[in-house]
Amino acid sequence: MTVAVTLLGSTGSIGRQTLDVARRYPDRVTIVALAARGSVDRFVEQAREHPHARRALADPEAARRAQAVLGRPVLAGSAALVDLAREPGADVVVNALVGAAGLRASIATLEGTARLALANKESLVVGGTLLTGLGLDRIVPVDSEHSAIHQCLTGEPAHGVSRIWLTASGGPFRGRTSAELTGVTVAEALAHPRWTMGPKITIDSATLMNKGLEVIEAHYLFGTEYDRITVVVHPQSCVHSMVEFTDGSVKAHLGATDMRIPIQYALSMPGRWECPVEPVDFLTIGRLDFEPPDPETFRALGLAYAAGRAGGTMPAVMNAANEVAVAAFLAGTTPFLSIAETVSRVMDLHTPVEPGSVEELEAVDAWARREASAVISGD
Ligand SMILES: NC(=O)c1ccc[n+]([C@@H]2O[C@H](COP(=O)([O-])OP(=O)(O)OC[C@H]3O[C@@H](n4cnc5c(N)ncnc54)[C@H](OP(=O)(O)O)[C@@H]3O)[C@@H](O)[C@H]2O)c1
Repeated sequence: MTVAVTLLGSTGSIGRQTLDVARRYPDRVTIVALAARGSVDRFVEQAREHPHARRALADPEAARRAQAVLGRPVLAGSAALVDLAREPGADVVVNALVGAAGLRASIATLEGTARLALANKESLVVGGTLLTGLGLDRIVPVDSEHSAIHQCLTGEPAHGVSRIWLTASGGPFRGRTSAELTGVTVAEALAHPRWTMGPKITIDSATLMNKGLEVIEAHYLFGTEYDRITVVVHPQSCVHSMVEFTDGSVKAHLGATDMRIPIQYALSMPGRWECPVEPVDFLTIGRLDFEPPDPETFRALGLAYAAGRAGGTMPAVMNAANEVAVAAFLAGTTPFLSIAETVSRVMDLHTPVEPGSVEELEAVDAWARREASAVISGD
């Protein structure tokens, strides 16, 4: 039996690794649609490898160029990506878009019948109960931590969970003080010790906002209260996360630090295919360390807990402010430490409400982006 896959964000880090998994299993995976934003050369190459896949690019000019090169239609605009997510014919939609831009596609997927293999954690952070209300049982996490938790929970009664231990590598600045992070460069922040990922998530890993987004993601995916989700820094990134049960038993999920394992699981589940990478050799691994995160230096983690606990529209505000601040840091227009400062100041300006619609969430998102830009430019 083959799995028909619509891949959103095909040109990115998760997208390319998904195609790598598909390449390993041509008899098990069929790519039925490919979508990205504007990386034309990479997209054209992918479209040629999967000539029967439907195609869409969010950037209309990029779509026009790709269509001219391919000599075949390429749908244009953000709405085209959402339409692809909704189209029948896919068993799984892999949402590997980055940022809140992925929300509409996640909603469209769940409005259809396909399984949503969700890498785009931001859509869950922003969409929260709106998204889970459409079909929580059809969302399979791609994030390695949440894939780990999902697998630890399989076959367990929901009321038996007493704590989720969410592991974090600590990023490139683990062990540094706030003072030592003044003036760190973009190149230093992008040098993640364990994972090779897209730029936005790599900066989020350096601030620990990524872990904060994951705390909120775990809350929505597994229905766990924030007091029972604990982040633990585990620099070797071998334990992908742990679930503690009421009787004191703890299940951990371990494996190689390679995203192709959770991506593949999101396609193969409940079955398992052969390991796509070199498995962990416990005879050579040595030690596994665990330590608490430093909340003074990595303020973003505390902000995410606060946003999650505030609920309603607050996680969407936090996420939007963070996206703007990260983009500004990557562009060299704001320092590293001001990312959390910007997020904090925009959150202070907001009183959360329960969002009734995606339009309401998008309005709040747009407001938070304007406020974050104003904070950064000093207006
Ligand atoms: N990378 C990892 O190892 C990893 C691990 C766990 C979770 N995740 C999550 O997976 C998601 C993707 O991460 P990534 O590292 O793969 O990001 P990435 O390398 O930056 O790729 C992002 C993809 O989304 C497309 N895209 C970006 N903005 C878009 C927009 N506004 N509209 C439509 N398409 C857009 C990009 O297209 P173009 O290239 O054409 O611009 C690209 O295909 C994120 O939510 C991240 O947190 C990633």
